[in-house]
Amino acid sequence: MKTRQLFSRREFFKTTGGTLSLFAMATYVPSAMAGAVESGPHRVNRNPAELRRLLDEMDARGHQFWSVPRKDGEFLHLLVKATRARNVLELGTSHGFSAIWMGLGLEETGGRLTTIEIEKERYELARRHVAEAGLSQRIILIKGDAHVEVARIEGPFDFVFMDADKEGQMDYFNKLYPKKLAPGGILAVHNAIRQANSMKDYLDMIRKHPDFDTVIMSATMDDGFCLSYRHRVA
Ligand SMILES: C[S@@+](CC[C@H](N)C(=O)[O-])C[C@H]1O[C@@H](n2cnc3c(N)ncnc32)[C@H](O)[C@@H]1O
Repeated sequence: MKTRQLFSRREFFKTTGGTLSLFAMATYVPSAMAGAVESGPHRVNRNPAELRRLLDEMDARGHQFWSVPRKDGEFLHLLVKATRARNVLELGTSHGFSAIWMGLGLEETGGRLTTIEIEKERYELARRHVAEAGLSQRIILIKGDAHVEVARIEGPFDFVFMDADKEGQMDYFNKLYPKKLAPGGILAVHNAIRQANSMKDYLDMIRKHPDFDTVIMSATMDDGFCLSYRHRVA
């Protein structure tokens, strides 16, 4: 019984993950509103084969850059669309793999992503990848220490993906909540299973927080996310 359940959950992500919708979406005609990232959906006329090649290459080198597994990228893509997120923040860009998945989701919602990376080489590589994916109008890359930049940046955000230094989650939370996380907003923290010890203070706090609903879940049956939803009414 247990084996069958696990199999069917795997099959769910295999068949309903971002891949199908992503490549269908990539064939949309260009919008006259190109560049107007906050005024509604706009899609770049990107070549689906080129996009697939870029994502395959980035995925193949993912271990070098500590990027999320592809399934988690697909899951973030789906979450951004399902929550109708429009102002998204990512901490820890690396080479831009998760940023591209979320950026492609934002093509549907008409939103934008701001992503912060401390390492110059990774930041520059991410900038190139974002340009190759046709997402330069939708993704704002910041080179800097996220602990400093989050304190400076304007919110509120309705979706935050926290994937930089794992020990830093508590500090990020204190800088984001309450003013920079919108009511109804989502905090998604990666590596919440395998690196739970490095963020124990955060996990203990958020699971008890009266203003959030929190689940720990996995799309890969390996590592996973801590997902927290901020109640609309406190
Ligand atoms: C796990 S990787 C991010 C992977 C990326 N989200 C993806 O899936 O493609 C973590 C990244 O966070 C960056 N990082 C670590 N501490 C940081 C900080 N204080 N501010 C900004 N970036 C930081 C690291 O340089 C590294 O590139």
